[in-house]
Amino acid sequence: MLEVRNLHKAYRGGDDVLHGINFEVQPGEFVVVLGQSGAGKSTLLRCLNYLCLPSGGEIRVNGVRHNPASKSGRQAQRRHFAMVFQDHNLLGRLSVLKNVLVGRMSHIPFWSCLFQVFSRRDVALALQAIETVGLAEKAYERADSLSGGQQQRVGVARALVQRPAMMLADEPVASLDPQSARQVLNCLQNACRREKIAVVCNLHQLDYAMEYASRVIGLAGGKVVYDGPPESMTPQVVEAIYPGVAQNKSASIPETGAGGALCRNIPLAGAV
Ligand SMILES: Nc1ncnc2c1ncn2[C@@H]1O[C@H](COP(=O)(O)OP(=O)(O)OP(=O)(O)O)[C@@H](O)[C@H]1O
Ligand SMILES: [Mg+2]
Repeated sequence: MLEVRNLHKAYRGGDDVLHGINFEVQPGEFVVVLGQSGAGKSTLLRCLNYLCLPSGGEIRVNGVRHNPASKSGRQAQRRHFAMVFQDHNLLGRLSVLKNVLVGRMSHIPFWSCLFQVFSRRDVALALQAIETVGLAEKAYERADSLSGGQQQRVGVARALVQRPAMMLADEPVASLDPQSARQVLNCLQNACRREKIAVVCNLHQLDYAMEYASRVIGLAGGKVVYDGPPESMTPQVVEAIYPGVAQNKSASIPETGAGGALCRNIPLAGAV
């Protein structure tokens, strides 16, 4: 469904921060992108929906390459993707329902958004998405009265009503406690499993990658250094993704065994 070929990105004439990235994503995959700070994870995600314009290479969705240089090309590309942001980007004084309806903006006329007049179908879709993320009883409450984890689930519901082929999530659980983080990641995983939406999710927490990813892409210095299932990650792979960090933590890494068990011992969240 998504094909990324020889993707390069340099910011304003600087050096490349992405150096020829190649990968494909199929419907229903939960791809976690891991890498140290500055590895290029956010840049990669933003290139996929042309929020960042690639400097070279191409991105195809269902075999079609939309032209990033044209406004219509960027709009066409973005219709395939919905984004979940680290800081939710909700309108605090609006209700949960209205925040989720914002996700329908690209599907309805401008005046409808301006005057907050939504069709029954759109409201039903929004309520359904709110229920999917487990917040049915909060639908008419102000968004800023919800906890951080609940607000992030509203962000996921807003992404769901866009009916995207893919969801892009840039560190969606960075500021959440483990229980709230798992609730958000469960919502993303359900979208993958039930609706066959592909998710590409940047994370710093290796634990969560092991638990939720069907596939891990490891980035280091703007290059893919690992692409495969989480359970096949060896200490060498972890070292390639987090140079120096895994070595420093080698006391926690068994010499042998499945990656799933050994990687779980590395407390990387605070170390990157
Ligand atoms: N708007 C920008 N202008 C110039 N350079 C940028 C810009 N955004 C990112 N960079 C640079 O690109 C490189 C990759 O940054 P990016 O934000 O993609 O990394 P990241 O892996 O998401 O890091 P983090 O884990 O800290 O979010 C870094 O060297 C960064 O300084
Ligand atoms: Mg980032």
